[in-house]
Amino acid sequence: MIDRVTIEKIMDSVEIVDVVQDFVTLKKRGVNYVGLCPFHNEKTPSFTVSPSKGIYKCFGCGSGGNAVNFIIEHEHLSYPEALKFLARKYNIEIVEKELTAEEVEQKNQRESMLILSKFAAGNFHENLFKHQEGISVGLSYFKERGFRHEILKEFSIGYCLEQKDSFTKIAQKSGYKLNYLIQTGLTIKKENYTFDRFNGRVIFPIHSLSGQVIGFGGRTLKKEPKAAKYLNSPESDIYHKSRVLYGIFQAKKEIVNKENCFLVEGYTDVLAMHQADIHNVVASSGTSLTVDQIRLIKRFAPNITILFDGDEAGIKASLRGIDLILEEGLNIKVILLPPGEDPDSYSRKLSSKEFKEFLVAEATDFIRFKTNLLLKETGDDPVKKSSLIRDIVQSIAAIQDSINRSVYIKECSMLLKVDEGVLYTEVNKIRRKRSEQRYRDISRQEEEIKEKPGKRQPQVFQETTDVQEKEIIRLLLLYGNRDFMEIHSGEEEVKTLTVTEFFINEIINDELEFDHPVCRQIFEEIQHMKNNEQKIEEKYFINHQDQTICDMVTNLLSPVPEISKIWSKHESYIETEEMKLKEVIPGILIAFKNKKILITIKKIEEELKIAQEQQKAEVIENLQTRYILLNNLKKQLSKDLGERIIL
Ligand code: UTP
Ligand code: MN
Repeated sequence: MIDRVTIEKIMDSVEIVDVVQDFVTLKKRGVNYVGLCPFHNEKTPSFTVSPSKGIYKCFGCGSGGNAVNFIIEHEHLSYPEALKFLARKYNIEIVEKELTAEEVEQKNQRESMLILSKFAAGNFHENLFKHQEGISVGLSYFKERGFRHEILKEFSIGYCLEQKDSFTKIAQKSGYKLNYLIQTGLTIKKENYTFDRFNGRVIFPIHSLSGQVIGFGGRTLKKEPKAAKYLNSPESDIYHKSRVLYGIFQAKKEIVNKENCFLVEGYTDVLAMHQADIHNVVASSGTSLTVDQIRLIKRFAPNITILFDGDEAGIKASLRGIDLILEEGLNIKVILLPPGEDPDSYSRKLSSKEFKEFLVAEATDFIRFKTNLLLKETGDDPVKKSSLIRDIVQSIAAIQDSINRSVYIKECSMLLKVDEGVLYTEVNKIRRKRSEQRYRDISRQEEEIKEKPGKRQPQVFQETTDVQEKEIIRLLLLYGNRDFMEIHSGEEEVKTLTVTEFFINEIINDELEFDHPVCRQIFEEIQHMKNNEQKIEEKYFINHQDQTICDMVTNLLSPVPEISKIWSKHESYIETEEMKLKEVIPGILIAFKNKKILITIKKIEEELKIAQEQQKAEVIENLQTRYILLNNLKKQLSKDLGERIIL
């Protein structure tokens, strides 16, 4: 448990822009920052960060909150984990309360697995540099391959001792439970014995975007191994192979700087590229790229450069997968390495400068690369050529940007000697088909959701005052502490009411209640604050411990994009609401009351119907009296309202 004081210290230190910027490229726009939302796939930025309010908000997918929420959502951490994450970032010492036995028991499983993985990485790393076997077997292997110590240290490379279960034993002795050793895959359990998954292998820890160790790759050092050359951690609660890229933690800053990400196949390729002073590089770890991985790269840069080793069959096999990258709206270049070389081996043959020059000179646009590659083998064969055209057209159709598409169509029409118009028609045909398919998929998904009972019940139409309640809360949060009006409380005495006092008086006098549970709770807290003569602070609610309150307040306080556009054009618009508080506040109160009355009238109408069916005279009379009263009230309100527009 983290104590309250520490939490406050953390909350006081965090800078939302600073926190978000570790994961998302942000650009300043007016008083806010915008970027591509990391929580859903988008092409135009609708992810907004407000440094003054300390919140983020995506207008595309609706996610939003403060810095802690961001870390929770982005790093898939629990609330205390996220706080610790931020504490580390800002060098704040965490003061943890003594844990009770029960709390220890409850401690998050994921967290335990992460702690264990960190311990394992540390242990393996220490072996490599300090343990006799580690040095003579592991370190000397890397030395032979020409890897410098600083690179091995940067990537926390390690060595797992050869004895069957020496790591498992050490970990258990240090207090790690076998249960977690098995769940992380570090230990493999057979019926009556256990052994280390990685024994006798050099270890490549796999880091999450934020630098936590989440998995491992282990390479055998045997010339003719019985088992696979590389063993990897199994899928687990902390390690999802399809979502991580090896090296992303070490590369992300440079990917942003260079606006490009090199993609290689292997662990050692990443290390070697770093050693050649190229730091914007990640590895897919030998499998084809997944959409999640592509999106991960896209958060940092719009360009990917794929390094292929010179095996044509291998390249052709991966061509189809590359269309996926195009569909995600990224620009792709391809570099073909000389036969028999991979980035690791080839980067060693050249100086860092020469290798960099090679990369610049050889980077070829993907479509051009693919066209040329396939053209080489079609020759003049018309059948082969038409299948090639179909193939290329598929790739061009995957490009999201229409200008880019037309550039490629032009170029391919020259390369393939096909009429531009024909290519256009074909590309458009495919795009139309795909969008129809996507539309069908979406409608099908919607149907499925509708059909699933319990998931989304058929909406019973129920009117609420949610809109008005939220608006009242918003006004309270923004202007609650301001003086609003003067009232005469005695002969000569004049008292000034704040906005908060005015709202509270009105709502309590009329015995109105909030329907929306979160609004009600916020309103109660505001009343409580007023009674204690505390100021109403946005920050308090934005950082509220109750997540539903944070969410609502964040939503209410987020600038609406359309409006902010108007604001930036005509600066005076910002003033309007503030200047018009004298109208806005009574207006929303009347709208609230009016809606309450309307809802009650509707309810009475329903009840009347039932009472009339059941012929309950007394009930009917009662209801009718109330009905008339309410209608009078409504008329009165409308008069008060004058020309005011009811929300
Ligand atoms: P490579 O066989 O190209 O190995 O596999 P490498 O990266 O060049 O390694 P070195 O240079 O021989 O040491 C490329 C990647 O495929 C995955 C690994 O992530 C590897 O880095 N792989 C390969 C496995 O997961 N298992 C294997 O058995 C082989
Ligand atoms: Mn290699």
